[in-house]
Amino acid sequence: MAKASAQFTCTDCGAVHRKWSGRCDACGAWNSIIEEAPLSAGPAGKSLGGAKGRRIDLTTLAHEEAPPPRTLCGMAEFDRVLGGGLVPASAILVGGDPGIGKSTLLLQAVAAFARKGLKCLYISGEEASAQVRMRAMRLGLADAPVSLGAETNLRDILTTLEAERPDLVVIDSIQTMWADMVEAAPGSVSQVRAAAHELVTFAKSRGVSVILVGHVTKEGQIAGPRVVEHMVDTVLYFEGERGHQFRILRAVKNRFGPASEIGVFEMTGGGLAEVANPSALFLSERGQPAPGSAVFAGIEGTRPVLTEIQALVAPSSLASPRRTVVGLDSGRVSTILAVLESRCGIPFAGLDVFLNVAGGLKVLEPAADLALAAALLSAREDVALPADLVIFGEISLSAALRPVGQAENRLKEAEKLGFSQAILPVGTKLEGGAGMALRKLPDLVTFVGDMFGAG
Ligand code: TYD
Ligand code: MG
Repeated sequence: MAKASAQFTCTDCGAVHRKWSGRCDACGAWNSIIEEAPLSAGPAGKSLGGAKGRRIDLTTLAHEEAPPPRTLCGMAEFDRVLGGGLVPASAILVGGDPGIGKSTLLLQAVAAFARKGLKCLYISGEEASAQVRMRAMRLGLADAPVSLGAETNLRDILTTLEAERPDLVVIDSIQTMWADMVEAAPGSVSQVRAAAHELVTFAKSRGVSVILVGHVTKEGQIAGPRVVEHMVDTVLYFEGERGHQFRILRAVKNRFGPASEIGVFEMTGGGLAEVANPSALFLSERGQPAPGSAVFAGIEGTRPVLTEIQALVAPSSLASPRRTVVGLDSGRVSTILAVLESRCGIPFAGLDVFLNVAGGLKVLEPAADLALAAALLSAREDVALPADLVIFGEISLSAALRPVGQAENRLKEAEKLGFSQAILPVGTKLEGGAGMALRKLPDLVTFVGDMFGAG
C-alpha cells in the first residue's frame, strides 16, 4: 500500500498544496503554508456496496415548509446583519482582529438573546469565567440568564451541550478548542477544522445554533477563520480601525439573508452601542468644505450609507510616487488615475496620492468611482466641491459614466441628510422626481469641464 504522504496546508485559507512554497497560490498570503499529518483515508480496499448504508428520504422541491421561526435579539444592527434574526440550528462564524471587540459584541448579543427567552450558553476558551463575569458586570448584563463555561476540551463541551440542550451556544474562540482525536496543537489547521466540524455537525443535528469566534491571524502557526468559512451558514467579520471607536459588522456570506449587509457600532466605555444612522456618523467629522473632499452616496447591503472620500495630492520626491489608499480598492484607484490621465489629459505623474474613507468604513462598490475621481481632482486643482453635493457613478475604461443600482435610495438618504444637489451618470433610472437638483453627466470629461473649468 502506498504510504500516505504529508500534505501542506495554508493556515490562512485552508488550501491544500502538494509541496511547500513561500506563498499560497490560492489566497496570496506569504509564509502561511505548514506541513500537516495526512488525513486518514478511511478503510481501503472495499467499495461502498449498495447493501450498506441507509436509504435516504428524498422529497420534491415543492415540499410545503414553513420558514424557520427567527429570534430577534433586539440589537437591531446585529439582527439585520444576521438577515433578520437568528435562525434555529444555524452555524455562524464571527471573525475579526484580536482586540477588536468580538467577545464584547457576542456577550452583549448572547445576553440579549437570553433575555428574549432563548437558553444560551457562552463557552470561553480564552478567559476565565470570573473575567467574563466581570465584563458582564461592567456592561450591565450580569442579570441576563446566560450559562457560562470556561473550557477548551471539545469532548467535555459536546457532553455538556448534549446534557443542557441550549438554543444558542457561543464558542469563544474556535482557535482555542482542542479535539483529542486529532494529533495536532490547538489552533493548527487540522484542530480548528476538526473542532469546527464537530461543533457544527453536533449543533445541526440537535437544533442548537452555534456562534464560533475566530481571530484573524496575521501569520504563523495559528489557523485563521477562513479555514472554517465553508462549514458555516453565515460568516460575519467585525472590522474597524484600532484608533477609531467605530466598528462594522459585515456579512460576507449568509445562507439566510443578504450578504454584504453591515451593522455599525460604536465602542464606548459601556460596551458596543448601536449606531442607527451611520451616514450622519460618518459625515459628522466633516468641517467646512475643503479641497479633496467628496461625499459618496453608497449602498451597504440593503441600506444607503453616505461617506466622505478624502484625497490629498502633493508633489513627490520619489521616483515612483506614493499611492496610499485606505478603505478603497487600490486597483480601482490605479484604474481611475489611468483614466484621468489618458482620457481626460490630467496627469498624476510626479504626484503623491493619498486616499481615505472617513470613519474607517471600507467602500468597495464600483459606484464610488466618480466620487473618488472627484476627490482626486478637487485635491489636485485645490478647489473645494460644494458642501451640499453628493456623487455616485461607475467609470468605465473609456471614461463613460455607467449608471448604478438603487439610485433612488441613495438620493433619498442624501436628501434626508440635507444635501440638495447630486451628480450621477446619465441613463440612471429614477421613478419619482427627487427633491434635489440632479446633474446627469455622460462621461468623466464632461464632469471635469463642468466642475473644474476646461481642465
Ligand atoms: P474584546 O471584546 O475583548 O476583543 P476580542 O474578543 O475581539 O479580542 O474587546 C477588547 C477591547 O474592547 C479592549 O481593548 C477594551 C475595549 N472595550 C471597551 O472599550 N469598552 C468596553 O466596555 C469593553 C468591554 C471593552
Ligand atoms: Mg475575545
